[in-house]
Amino acid sequence: MTAKPKAFLLHGFMGTGKTTLAKKLESEHDAVRFTHDEWMNELFGDDPPEELFQEYARRISTVMQKTWTRCLDLGVNVVLDFGLWSRAERDSIRALVARHGGEPMLCHLNCTDDVAWQRIDERNRALGRSLFIAQTPFEC
Ligand SMILES: Nc1ncnc2c1ncn2[C@@H]1O[C@H](COP(=O)(O)OP(=O)(O)OP(=O)(O)O)[C@@H](O)[C@H]1O
Ligand SMILES: [Mg+2]
Repeated sequence: MTAKPKAFLLHGFMGTGKTTLAKKLESEHDAVRFTHDEWMNELFGDDPPEELFQEYARRISTVMQKTWTRCLDLGVNVVLDFGLWSRAERDSIRALVARHGGEPMLCHLNCTDDVAWQRIDERNRALGRSLFIAQTPFEC
């Protein structure tokens, strides 16, 4: 029996190191990596308008889902670098992975808000393919 393709689900708040780990997993497991923020950056820039962000995010998720589920159908490992903040979202993705014959591997990342903000503040200065993140979410 062939092993099920793995779907690594990266779960954690902003700046906890999800994309950093996603890149490691991608190379260690010959996986296709789906980093939502990179697609947003490529398509709509590093600081898309707030009023359009949700709609852009929805469109990206739709195209991404068609692609990563097809990867699983073909037996290819995937890394889903989405944040997956809510339990409902994690449950729904896990169910979808299973429907496409994959094995969900949940990876939870965590660090203090101070450390996360320091990392993001530094990353904001040289964004590359990341998105700009304001300090506001860390002040709530
Ligand atoms: N373990 C670590 N130690 C030190 N710096 C780290 C560590 N992990 C990640 N970083 C750095 O912190 C910054 C944020 O990491 P990363 O982009 O991987 O986080 P993220 O969880 O993907 O963030 P986001 O939620 O914004 O997508 C990056 O500049 C990265 O190089
Ligand atoms: Mg990231």
